[in-house]
Amino acid sequence: MEITWNGIESHIAGCAQCPLSQTRQQPVMGRGNHRADIMLIAEAPGAQEDQQGVPFVGRSGEILDSLLQECGLTREEIYITNILKCHPPGNRDPREEEKEACFPYLKYETFLLKPKIIVCLGRVAAQRIISPDFKITRQHGLWTCRKDCALTATYHPSAILRDPSKYESAKKDFCEIVKKRDEFIPGGHKPGGPTGADF
Ligand code: URA
Repeated sequence: MEITWNGIESHIAGCAQCPLSQTRQQPVMGRGNHRADIMLIAEAPGAQEDQQGVPFVGRSGEILDSLLQECGLTREEIYITNILKCHPPGNRDPREEEKEACFPYLKYETFLLKPKIIVCLGRVAAQRIISPDFKITRQHGLWTCRKDCALTATYHPSAILRDPSKYESAKKDFCEIVKKRDEFIPGGHKPGGPTGADF
């Protein structure tokens, strides 16, 4: 089977692999530049994302945009997705079986994107992607390498909303992410491709 962005999107649109398909308004596919070097992976869509079908459109999206802006990044040059594509009712933590049911979609997105840098936003993503015992408070901003991809984690924007004192640490982490990108890809990043308009 050929894996394509359109193919992933239509699978996600009709997905009923876990009970969240019964309670969601709509699934939320990753968004952004399909030629991005940087992939952000968060936890799961919130209530507003569930309504609009786009990641990080709520208040945590404002925090994310502010962090991106402070270090000179825009949504148009990165790709943002979630471990779960459907909103867990009441914003509860994703369940193991939900994460496992949804994981193939993340694998397909990563396969197509081939990011140079993966940034986990928050504990849930970091524990699923980097290490099951990842401690976000102690280990945010640290780097690890897998194949030719550098991985790191920082605070989830919702955690910053709850505790604004985390903002400065997250800002430093994001500035390091840009430095790492510039080290990895001397002379600049991949030229801008379509920004999600092809799906
Ligand atoms: N929180 C997440 O983890 N993902 C979103 O898309 C929005 C809020």
